[in-house]
Amino acid sequence: MIILGIDTSCDDTSVAILKIDPPPKIWWGRKLKILSNIVSSQVKLHAKYGGVYPFLAKREHQKNLPIVFEKTLKRAKISVKEIDFIAVTVGPGLEPCLWVGVNFVKELAKKLRLPIIPINHIEAHIMANWLPIGQTQNSKTELPFMEAKVKKRTESSSPLKTQNLFPAICLVVSGGHSQLILMNDFLKYKILGETRDDAAGECLDKAARILGLPYPGGPAIAAEAANLKPKTYNLTPKLPRPMLHQKNYDFSFSGLKTAVLYDFRDRPPKIRKSKEYIRAMSAEVQQAIIDVLISKTLRAAEEYKAKTIILGGGVAANEELRRQFKVQSSLPTGRPAKFKVNFFVPPKKFCTDNAAMVGITAFFHYLKGESRNWQKIFVNANLRI
Ligand code: KG4
Ligand code: ZN
Repeated sequence: MIILGIDTSCDDTSVAILKIDPPPKIWWGRKLKILSNIVSSQVKLHAKYGGVYPFLAKREHQKNLPIVFEKTLKRAKISVKEIDFIAVTVGPGLEPCLWVGVNFVKELAKKLRLPIIPINHIEAHIMANWLPIGQTQNSKTELPFMEAKVKKRTESSSPLKTQNLFPAICLVVSGGHSQLILMNDFLKYKILGETRDDAAGECLDKAARILGLPYPGGPAIAAEAANLKPKTYNLTPKLPRPMLHQKNYDFSFSGLKTAVLYDFRDRPPKIRKSKEYIRAMSAEVQQAIIDVLISKTLRAAEEYKAKTIILGGGVAANEELRRQFKVQSSLPTGRPAKFKVNFFVPPKKFCTDNAAMVGITAFFHYLKGESRNWQKIFVNANLRI
C-alpha cells in the first residue's frame, strides 16, 4: 500500500511517500518504509522578519508544493497511479497555509479518484514516534497494531506490544502548540492541559529575537547555551518557571519572554551584547522551559499511572530537553521504587514538521475506515485532538 502525505500547516512544505507491506501471515507484522520524505523549509525567507508571516508562507507553499510533490514521487520511484490514498493536514495551523495543501490534494484526489484522510497536525507529531528510526532509505519499522481490535480479529497469540504502552502521556511542544495529552490507546486522546498564551517554541523564537539571535530561535538558543562556560561567568540571570507549582497541566510562556526582555533591557549595553551574557541567558531560558515541561509531564504521568511518556513537536528536537527527560523519566517518580516509565522521542528530523508523520497517522485512521471523498475535506485552523 502506498500513502501520500502532505503538510503545509506552517512554514515547511512537506511531502512524503510511505509504503506499508501487507502482513506476512498474521495481522501484527506489517512493515512500514518511508520511500521519500522531503521538507522544503522557508526558514531563510522568514528569518528576515524573525517569525512566520502567514500570507508570505502561503505564497511560498503555492510556489513550492507542486515542485516538492514531483521531487518526492521521483525520489520514491513511483508514479501517481500507484498511490492508494492521500493524507493531508487539515489543522491546527495557519489557515491560508493549510488551504494550499488541502486544495492541492482535493484536485489530485478528484483527478485520480483517490480517498483522502484528513489529519490533525498534533496527532501527527505524536505518531512520528512510530516512524522508522534508522538513517537509511531501507529502514523499516514494524507497526505495533491495534488492527486486531479495529477489525475484531481474535488471534490470541498477539504480542500486542501496545499492552505495555498505554496509558501514555504525550507532550507536544512546537512553535504553535504546547499540549499535554493523555493517550489511552491509538487514536484515543484527551487534552490534559495546554499553553494559555505563547507556545514553548514561540517563546524560544521570541527570546532569540530579543537577544539578536536568528530565526528559528530554538536551535539558535540551544547552540548558544551549549557554549556557556558557567564557571567563568558570574552574571547568571534568573528567570521565572511559570506555573510550575500550579496543580493544573496548563502552561504559560509569554511572561518568560517578557522576563528575558526586561533583563536584557536593564543590562548595560556592553554586557548585553557580550557573548557570555547571550549564552547565559540562552541557557537560562532553555532551562526554565525544560523545568516546567518535565515537571508537569512527570506529574501527569504519576497521576494517570502512565506506562509511557511520548514527546513530539519541533521543541522535542532540543538536545538538553531530550537528555533531561531521559534521565528524569527513568527515576522512580514517586511510584514503587522499581517503576520505570518508557520514554519515546522521535529522531530529531521527525520532531520538526514533516509529512512522513502525516502519512503514518493516516494509516491508523485508514484501518478504522476513516477515509473521505475530496468534497468532504475542509480546513480547521483551530482543530482539537
Ligand atoms: O513542530 P515545528 O517544526 O512547527 C510547528 O508545528 O510549530 O516546531 C517549530 C518550533 C520552532 O519554534 C523552533 O524554534 C523549535 O520548534 N525548535 C527547537 C529546536 N528545533 C526546532 N527548539 C528547541 N531546540 C531545537 N533544537
Ligand atoms: Zn508542527
